[in-house]
Parts: sequence; structure tokens; C-alpha cells
Amino acid sequence: MKTQVAIIGAGPSGLLLGQLLHRQGIDTVILEAKTPEYVLSRIRAGVLEYGFVDLMREAGASERMDREGLVHEGFSLDFNGRRERIDMAGLTGGHSVMVYGQTDLTEDLMAIRKTSGAPIIYEAANVQLHDFYTDAPRVTFEHKGEKITLECDYIAGCDGFHGVSRQSAPQDKIRNFERVYPFGWLGLLSDTPPIEEELLYIHNPRGFALCSMRSTTRSRYYLQCSLAEHVEEWSDDRFWSELSLRLPKDIAGQLITGPSLEKSIAPLRSFVAEPMKFGRMFLVGDAAHIVPPTGAKGLNLASSDVYTLYHALRGTYHEGRADLLDKYSEICLRRIWKAERFSWWMTMLLHTFDEDPFSQRIQQAEQDYYTSTVAGRTTIAENYVGLPYEPVV
Ligand code: APR
Ligand code: PHB
Repeated sequence: MKTQVAIIGAGPSGLLLGQLLHRQGIDTVILEAKTPEYVLSRIRAGVLEYGFVDLMREAGASERMDREGLVHEGFSLDFNGRRERIDMAGLTGGHSVMVYGQTDLTEDLMAIRKTSGAPIIYEAANVQLHDFYTDAPRVTFEHKGEKITLECDYIAGCDGFHGVSRQSAPQDKIRNFERVYPFGWLGLLSDTPPIEEELLYIHNPRGFALCSMRSTTRSRYYLQCSLAEHVEEWSDDRFWSELSLRLPKDIAGQLITGPSLEKSIAPLRSFVAEPMKFGRMFLVGDAAHIVPPTGAKGLNLASSDVYTLYHALRGTYHEGRADLLDKYSEICLRRIWKAERFSWWMTMLLHTFDEDPFSQRIQQAEQDYYTSTVAGRTTIAENYVGLPYEPVV
């Protein structure tokens, strides 16, 4: 089997990259370890930066997103009952974000891959990457009991944090940066109308809470929880009562509860692997970096990596620009570290830490300063809608 770009992983990164390259006449084969149903069963993020929205349009995959996605021009922060709205559009010259679930987005990209006829192999087992420091990389895998070799020009490692690609890089050539946080997020999805039209991030002595949504009829709520807790200990009733206690008093009565469709606990982590290029193998999305979800940046960082690799590959194949791929890692990492900074900062700003009184006062001063000055609010807004993608030239 032969292709131009072998893509490992059919999450949002792999599927979007595959579709963008397909539209440029560049051949790809996507290898995915799991089944499509499994990929779609993972409930994840739901806020798209405007740059991601534009890239979905460029991929020709935006039809349902443009129809059903909710454009949000602002969101609110609540500090123990003191509420501040961040007017994203007003502070950034008109930029907004799109609320559209990753599950729907993945489904749209899967459907488009199917229509395009470009190959995607699900349940590819024992995927191994070879010879990516030569001009003839190979990927071997097993499918339905058969051993297959895929020859290619380049390998895109879009296989998430636990994938094989990052692990295949020579360990003396990779450096990892990591921070773990002393709490997790307990998330609940329900078919109930969201408590408010916009997202609400809450700092409360009982712990952080977030009121988010997937649509006007489906809500997504999160509670800061201890890492020692198990999801089985959280009945729906316990979740709703704890959320009510953390909500601002003036809106707590408006909360509409209902049975959960999904409930899970996720740890919070910051992680970056450098570099993101190893010969002819490139790390993309969660394979290279993780952010705590507080800034809604995980999926959006995958998108800017895809943008960069797509443009570099297009220039390589269509304009003979062999130099562009050499810039991939540095272009991506400049934006990644800024999003890592923002996600870390939002996490520190909004969560409740078991800390000394001095640190608590500093956190209060940060909350006050950043929301009471135009400069502070602008900083939050421009990071939240997404910093611009760096041109690949
Ligand atoms: N071989 C083939 N596929 C693999 C392998 C492997 N060895 N290991 C993992 N995969 C697949 C996973 O099953 C998954 O479908 O790679 C895919 C990676 O998808 P994601 O984890 O969703 O990562 P990515 O596509 O980079 O998406 C960006 O950022 O913050 C998150 O919520 C956000 O999930 C989103 C992610
Ligand atoms: C979500 O809707 O899942 C969501 C929204 C905003 C965040 C994190 C998660 O910051």
C-alpha cells in the first residue's frame, strides 16, 4: 500500500488534515486504532475559535456547523457573586467563538471522508512507524489478521496523547514539559436547556464550576473535584445540588435539571513535547500537547497545528518549497506556548486552591485587575477567541 501522507489517528486532527489535503489533490491514508463508534463516543470540548471555524469552511466541512453552531460574542466570569461579562466581540474588533460539540464536528468530518472516497482504516492494530529519518518512511499495521505495510512520503502523528507517534520519536531528541494540577473536573451532559445563553465560569469557595452547552437544548456542566473521587460517588442528584451551591445566588433558581447522558472525571494537565518534527514525522494536536480545559483550547490548538502542517505540505507538493516543513515545529510551538500560558493562567485564576492567605489575596487581586480594566478584559478576550494563526511562508 502506498500514499503521500500517512495519517495516524482519526480524531479531529487527523480527519481535518486529511480533508484539507484531499482538496489539494494530496493523497492520504488514515489509520485509526478504534472503531468509528468508539471515536464518536468520547465526549469532549465544544468551543471553536474563529480560526478553527474558518478552517472547517476551507475544508468544505462547515455546512452543519454553520447551520446549528451557536455564535457566542461574550462569556461571563463570576467571582463569589461578583459577575463580569467579557465582551469578546467588542474587545477584539468583532471576533466571536462557535459553540459546536467535538462529537458533531468529528461526525461531519467522518461523513465527508466517506463521501470523498479517500481511504480510512479503522481498527488498525499494532501501528508502527519506521524509517522517518529517510526519504522513504513506512508504517506497518495489522488489519483483520493481515500484516500491511504503508509506504509514504510523510507521517502525520495525529494519534492523541496516548498514541504511538510521540513514543516512536528517538527519546534523546525529545523534551517534555509538564504540569499537573491537584484536582479534576467532573463533567455532566444533559438534555436540559442551558442556564444562560452564554458560558459562565464560576470561582466559588466550594470549588470552580462551569456552565457550558452543546445547543439550546443540551447543557454541559463541570465541577472542580478532588482527584481521589470516583464518578460512581456522584449521583445526578448530588451533582445538581453541588452545582446549585456554587452558582451565583441570583440565578441558582433558574437551573433546570434532568438525567445525565454522560458523567465523567478528567484530570487537569499541561504538557508540551518539543520539537514536533522528527525527520519526516510530524506530531499534531494532542499527540504533542495537552492543556487544562479552563481556556477551551485543546481542540483549537489541534486546529492551528493542522493549519500549519497543511500549508507546509501544500507548499512542498505544489510549489516545491522544501523549506516550509522545516519551520513546522517552531511556528506551531510559538502559538502553543501562548495557549499553554493562557490555559494555565485561567486555571490558576478560577480554581479554588488549598493555599496560604497571601496566595489567596494575589488570586483575588488578579481577578479584580483583569476584569476591572479594559486592558485586562482585552487580554482575556483576545486569547479566548484565539490568537491569529501564523502564516506559513
Ligand atoms: N494507532 C492508530 N490510532 C491511534 C493510536 C494508534 N496507535 N493511538 C491513538 N489513536 C487514535 C485514537 O483512537 C483517537 O481516535 O488517534 C485519535 C486521536 O484523537 P484525539 O485524542 O481526539 O486527538 P486529536 O485528533 O489531536 O484531537 C484534539 O484535543 O483537547 C483535545 O478535546 C480535544 O480530543 C481533542 C483533541
Ligand atoms: C465544554 O463545553 O465542554 C467546555 C467549554 C469551555 C471550556 C471547557 C469545556 O473552557
